[in-house]
Amino acid sequence: MEKLLIKGGNTISGTIKCSGAKNAALPMIAATILCKESVVLRNLPFLQDITTMFELLGSMGAQIILNEDMDFTISSNKLSDTEARYELVKTMRASILVLGPLVARYGKARIALPGGCAIGSRPVNFHLDALEQLGAKIELKNGYIEATADRLQGTRVKFDGITVTGTENIMMAAALAEGTSYLTNVAKEPEIVDLAEMLNAMGANIKGAGTDEIIIEGVEELTGVTFDIPADRIEAGTYLAAAVVTAGDIRIDGINPDRLKKVLEKLAETGAEITCTDDSISLSMNLDKPKPVDITTAPFPEFPTDMQAQFSVISAMADGVSNIYENVFENRFMHIQELNRMGCDISVQGNHALVKGVNTLYGAEVMATDLRASASLILAGLCAEGDTIVDRIYHIDRGYERIEEKLNYLGANILRLPS
Ligand code: EPU
Repeated sequence: MEKLLIKGGNTISGTIKCSGAKNAALPMIAATILCKESVVLRNLPFLQDITTMFELLGSMGAQIILNEDMDFTISSNKLSDTEARYELVKTMRASILVLGPLVARYGKARIALPGGCAIGSRPVNFHLDALEQLGAKIELKNGYIEATADRLQGTRVKFDGITVTGTENIMMAAALAEGTSYLTNVAKEPEIVDLAEMLNAMGANIKGAGTDEIIIEGVEELTGVTFDIPADRIEAGTYLAAAVVTAGDIRIDGINPDRLKKVLEKLAETGAEITCTDDSISLSMNLDKPKPVDITTAPFPEFPTDMQAQFSVISAMADGVSNIYENVFENRFMHIQELNRMGCDISVQGNHALVKGVNTLYGAEVMATDLRASASLILAGLCAEGDTIVDRIYHIDRGYERIEEKLNYLGANILRLPS
């Protein structure tokens, strides 16, 4: 298994461009199933999760073509199969995103039930309840979700809890339903708005994405579109955090700062000087240590759970005590044990982590447990004394495009060790 060797102590400074967002791209690839024509997606990030999504669509008979400009043309209009097998679903839970589109367009889907994962049990009951309300018949058999429907029927759907991929699944399904759907208690993440924009560009009629109620007037069919994947707010936030923990200076281009409002507020509390344009964020620590900062994760527009692990490292390097409350996933503190092995002083009780800032972190061999946990270990390695080796980096390759290349360009010293 490949590993990353990080020689700590370098400052992160310079300018980079943000890559396309994984969590925007995945539902958009699934949305191609809804469409009678081919869809062109541009600015897709080169990530393992994107490859897995293509593999899934390919296994169902979709055609995927890459041109010389690195644009993908996806033709999911004549699928020969509507099954997402366990081999693929177990490697990527977001495979569940094909459920809504398959039922809406083909009237059936057989999707392996995703199990729990390193950050929590992550059930899909909200997706299934909502799809049933749109008229699908759902059975759970042999570890699979088996869903069938004649044309889905628009209705009022109140989600039992806020779910990002659940909202996306049902938004896609309702786009082809008969009549109007009113979705409430929905997720309001920027990726929901991005997906609605893409679906509307394909001929859907969706209003209110990003607010408390999404209203979808179902249409008979959707047509092809060329769509650019927007920038990855969590990637941007992670590089900003890298500059904070190394007392650096960074500019990230191609990112709308409104997507990171809460994160930028919290970074400013650490003492970072932040200036923004419509599509760039600059941050400077003026060679200072961060001040302590408390965070509480919750659905957008609150502080994102996907930035919690990175803030654990900021707090660990801060001059004082910080509190972290994780309210989205029940088990998203797996990185803490590894950070403590590097010299952090963090104690966890339930969903609360008490972080006492320390003066020095020490390089160690550590193991990544999930995507954002891996990012936090790399951040810790950047500011640690000596060498850090991060194992199981397939987690990081799922969601950060060329991370060591980008960080090295900004001054880090990271080597990918072959397996
Ligand atoms: N939940 C349920 N039932 C459901 C669905 C969710 O109980 O049917 C619970 C989950 O267990 C969790 C909470 O609701 O406690 C929120 O989960 P959500 O469904 O919103 O998460 P998701 O849609 O599976 C997406 C991102 C995650 C991100 C979360 C929260 C994608 C592909 N994934 O997951 O991204 O952490 O929203 O913002 O969009 C990552 O990129 O590292 C990542 C994990």
